[in-house]
Amino acid sequence: MHRVRTRPRGNLSRVMERVAVYRNRLVAGLLIVLSTQALRMVLPLITRSVVNDVIPTADFALMWKLGGLLVGITAVRATMLYTRGIIFERISQNVICDLRTELYSKFQAQSHTFYDKHKIGEIMSRMTGDMEGVRNFVLTFCMTMGEQFFAFTFACVSMGMISWKLTLATLSVCVPLSIIAAVFNKRIRPMHAAVREQNAVLNTRAQENIAGIRIVKAFAREDYESERFREDNEKALELNLKATFTWSDFNPVMDILGSLGAPVVLLVGGIMVSQGTLDLGSLVAALGYIWMMVNPMRMLAHFVNVIAQGLSSAEKLFYYLDLGSTVKSPENAVSPRRGDGGSSVEFDDVTFSYGDSVVLKNVSFEARPGETVAVMGATGTGKTTIAGLMARFYDVRSGRVLIDGADVRQFSLPALRSRVGFVMQDTFLFSDSIEENVAFAHPGQDKTEVEEACEVAQAGEFIDHLPQKWETIVGERGLGLSGGQKQRVSIARALAAKPSVLILDDATSAVDMETEALIQEGLRKRAGKATTIIIAHRISSVIHADQIIVLDKGGIAERGTHRQLLEKDGLYKRMFLDQVRDFASVNHPAKSADLAGAPVKEAE
Ligand SMILES: Nc1ncnc2c1ncn2[C@@H]1O[C@H](COP(=O)(O)OP(=O)(O)O)[C@@H](O)[C@H]1O
Ligand SMILES: [Mg+2]
Repeated sequence: MHRVRTRPRGNLSRVMERVAVYRNRLVAGLLIVLSTQALRMVLPLITRSVVNDVIPTADFALMWKLGGLLVGITAVRATMLYTRGIIFERISQNVICDLRTELYSKFQAQSHTFYDKHKIGEIMSRMTGDMEGVRNFVLTFCMTMGEQFFAFTFACVSMGMISWKLTLATLSVCVPLSIIAAVFNKRIRPMHAAVREQNAVLNTRAQENIAGIRIVKAFAREDYESERFREDNEKALELNLKATFTWSDFNPVMDILGSLGAPVVLLVGGIMVSQGTLDLGSLVAALGYIWMMVNPMRMLAHFVNVIAQGLSSAEKLFYYLDLGSTVKSPENAVSPRRGDGGSSVEFDDVTFSYGDSVVLKNVSFEARPGETVAVMGATGTGKTTIAGLMARFYDVRSGRVLIDGADVRQFSLPALRSRVGFVMQDTFLFSDSIEENVAFAHPGQDKTEVEEACEVAQAGEFIDHLPQKWETIVGERGLGLSGGQKQRVSIARALAAKPSVLILDDATSAVDMETEALIQEGLRKRAGKATTIIIAHRISSVIHADQIIVLDKGGIAERGTHRQLLEKDGLYKRMFLDQVRDFASVNHPAKSADLAGAPVKEAE
């Protein structure tokens, strides 16, 4: 897991900074809280007056007045309690709304390295569970704790004015209560942390499984996955119960201690009344203040609990906020002239590793504007990595990647990524209409441009046959389209963005060879043709490339045109012969002979 570093500035002050944005509401809310608690102190005084003044003299006129006062105060308090509830709810909801927005843009800005390390389920659980923890904290800390603080202070003062002896008697119960609350805090804190960690694990498991449900079903692994989930779920249950039981162990102790307040006051007060040092009305009033003093102490444990939870949730969220993206736009970005006929791409002695394992070692090659460079090699040799470095998904360890003569680290990221268009190996479409998917880079893009991109990608025809044509909504990740159709939409999406470098990472693997040939021809003929990097396995996909690079063991093993490489008798020749042989073995001798002697581009 990722260590959460404690920052010099505390989490509490960082949360309160966000609350302070709503300081006007906060002040208004606190004033209301203060007034409601002050009014509450009047209630026992009314009782005292009834006992001392009304009952002995049967003064019913006074009785009516006091009764009216009681009802009036209660009505005012009820209104104020309602208002303060609304004010503080608004504050706490706004604070987490702000936090969510800020975190979301942070997630958008994070680099690929971040997503390599953090699981989606973990992020989701932070965005929901931990957010709720912070909201609850803000509400409790600002409202409920303020309320209990005022109640306790006012009640101490009010009772103190009646009798300091009775006040001390009540406080003698409060002290052990607060000690127990402290002990409880120490016990419960790590338990809540464990519960939240396990929730993150559970969310990750659920998210990954539901996302991969088709694979699970294809391999008939439903039972196994359910079992794994059940285990994690039971662990969460266990941890939750442990925390709840700890809470239930403490709660009765506190209730018993808290209820000792009344007998203690009755005993001390009873003696005072019988000695004539206290009137009966004051003793009855003092009984009315006990709960106001004891309850805040009883609630200490709850506060401690909510604060511990809220602050540890806040810490998790701040961790994300504090993470700088490793791949950032530079201060003084350059913007070299972009050629009409594509950008130049150059790898200059590039070495790259994910963590410790080196994937590319001293790789150098160049694609001139408008050229097509093909990258081949077995899986895992670093083809996708090379493509990713062009769009600066990751930074090189050493060497340089140059686009239009400038290091990719000198571009602003949006500028770089508008030059480098990507058709990813794993096609991903949003659950939007086809048109919105294709015009993803430029929402509301001119329809003719969108259509032209689809024509080149050979997607126009099948789109015309869809029930709602362009407006057809594709499901999540492009559900409802075949693999090849998805790939064509994603090629169209890259083309519609009008990049000057177009990367096709295994982009036609699910498209039949004839359609692939049409797509390639369309790309070659396109006005303002982009420099094209084709990553492919089929020889037929790369045959027309100006340069073919064959990767092996972290470096470039061979390079040249199709014809040059065939003369070399190396890796490429072997791949070629393998594919021709496969072709021949399915009884297409004529076609395989064709391919062997295919009219290929001459070396320049
Ligand atoms: N995000 C990543 N984190 C760590 N290792 C990775 C990551 N992506 C790829 N690799 C590793 O880098 C190597 C090259 O991967 P890749 O460029 O995807 O190969 P190719 O596209 O040629 O199949 C592989 O060994 C792969 O396991
Ligand atoms: Mg790949």
